[in-house]
Amino acid sequence: MDTNKEKGRLVVLSNRVGPLSDSGKAGGLAVGLGDALRRRGGIWFGWSGKTSEQGTFSAFDRETEGDVELVRVDMTEQENTDFYGGYANTTLWPLMHYRLDLAGFERRFEAAYRHINQRMAARLSTLLEEDDVVWVHDYHYLLVGHELRETGFKGPIGFFLHIPFPPPEIFAALPNANSIVRGMVDYDVIGFQTERDCRNFCRYITDELGGEQVDEARVRLGDRTIIAKAYPIGIDAEGFEKLARSADALALRKKLYTMLEGRHQVVGVDRLDYSKGIPERLRAFDELLQTYPENRGKVTLLQIAPLSRAELESYRDLRRELEELAGHINGAFGTLEWTPIRIMTRGFTRRALAGICRASRVGLVTPLRDGMNLVAKEYVAAQDPENPGVLVLSRFAGAARELQAGALMVNPHDPGDVAGALQTAVTMPLAERQRRFETMREPVFRTTAQSWCADFLAELYAFRAGDRSGAA
Ligand code: ADP
Ligand code: F6P
Repeated sequence: MDTNKEKGRLVVLSNRVGPLSDSGKAGGLAVGLGDALRRRGGIWFGWSGKTSEQGTFSAFDRETEGDVELVRVDMTEQENTDFYGGYANTTLWPLMHYRLDLAGFERRFEAAYRHINQRMAARLSTLLEEDDVVWVHDYHYLLVGHELRETGFKGPIGFFLHIPFPPPEIFAALPNANSIVRGMVDYDVIGFQTERDCRNFCRYITDELGGEQVDEARVRLGDRTIIAKAYPIGIDAEGFEKLARSADALALRKKLYTMLEGRHQVVGVDRLDYSKGIPERLRAFDELLQTYPENRGKVTLLQIAPLSRAELESYRDLRRELEELAGHINGAFGTLEWTPIRIMTRGFTRRALAGICRASRVGLVTPLRDGMNLVAKEYVAAQDPENPGVLVLSRFAGAARELQAGALMVNPHDPGDVAGALQTAVTMPLAERQRRFETMREPVFRTTAQSWCADFLAELYAFRAGDRSGAA
């Protein structure tokens, strides 16, 4: 199935590496990339998740799973604080999610970011052979392509951004934004989740840097012409559907049905991140109970929200806000028999998540801004075609483009809009649920983790073959 394999080994770099097995760890990148790499083989390099005195100079930690070699290095405490907590998640993450109000800009963060990008490129270069093809992932490593060129590596280097790229008017607020984007142009192929993200990036090149849009897929800056295109990421849809039909998942569903005593369950599954719109979602659920009181005692919201980046204040504030809100709503509406909102911060296996999705009448996916949102696709893949649930989806999720024809689309900032969609979802007749489900099933099973990977790599390997030299 892998037509590219013979043309050179695939070497992937991302901040987190693996695991390839079902670990109960949250995060779209690990899930999407893990699904794709498992089938293809290669090297997956990145941070070990540990800090040590040697940091990025530490010995490689190597592990093999199937055809994939997982290679990791540590960071020092300081590197981790300023690179991961600082530039990646205090500067870039909020900025890329259109949240200038939360973005912090500190020179030492930027210095750490440049240092880590340079160090990771240097370590990566020691793993590389001449024929290798390198694929770098996400906002942590915008400059690794540039740094890798400095080491003399001549093979194709691709980059995929898993999160949004904001309009140039927002990105320009980043100190040294021009130099970051100029550095990115050393990649040969840059992939985005949506056409909107791709357009925003290309507009930065043309409007802010005086570059040129050569054609639909190519953009030029100085003497570099690169491919910039949308490659929406997907899930291992068949695998997830199979999990949802497994005996374990069905047993879990049965247990949940018994516990629910005929009530409808609405489910939200998100890392505890302000981009996911979780407090806004709870306010919408509050509005549902106020405006449509017939749902009191009849509908339960299960919010699975694994803790994320808890070392950062904005994330701790969010947790507090969420707990207060849930406490308030449960206090106001709860009865001896019924708790309106349940929040769980623990990790689940994918099998358990699949079972929970299948048991839930509504999947509530309402990010304020999201690159793609794999949970939306997982919810669809997990449904029982005979009796499917309804997806309520934010128009600001990357997944909106593919799923809007079947989902109930909402503005997550408007609690009345989301409450109305919830009411429609819990009262929707079976025939309409089935029709909507079939409409969503098609794109979820067509654009998968595997097809995403194959499409991107076909473009990248074409660079090597000279089929697409990038020359205008
Ligand atoms: P992000 O990459 O921003 O976290 P996505 O929705 O794209 O958002 O991907 C999140 C992934 O993490 C999904 O595959 C989801 O199933 C998984 N996930 C979310 N919560 C949990 C949890 N509690 N346990 C295990 N996996 C989780
Ligand atoms: O999808 C965006 C992303 O930042 C991924 O890179 C990452 O795997 C996931 O969210 C979880 O974030 P973190 O690695 O910071 O826990």
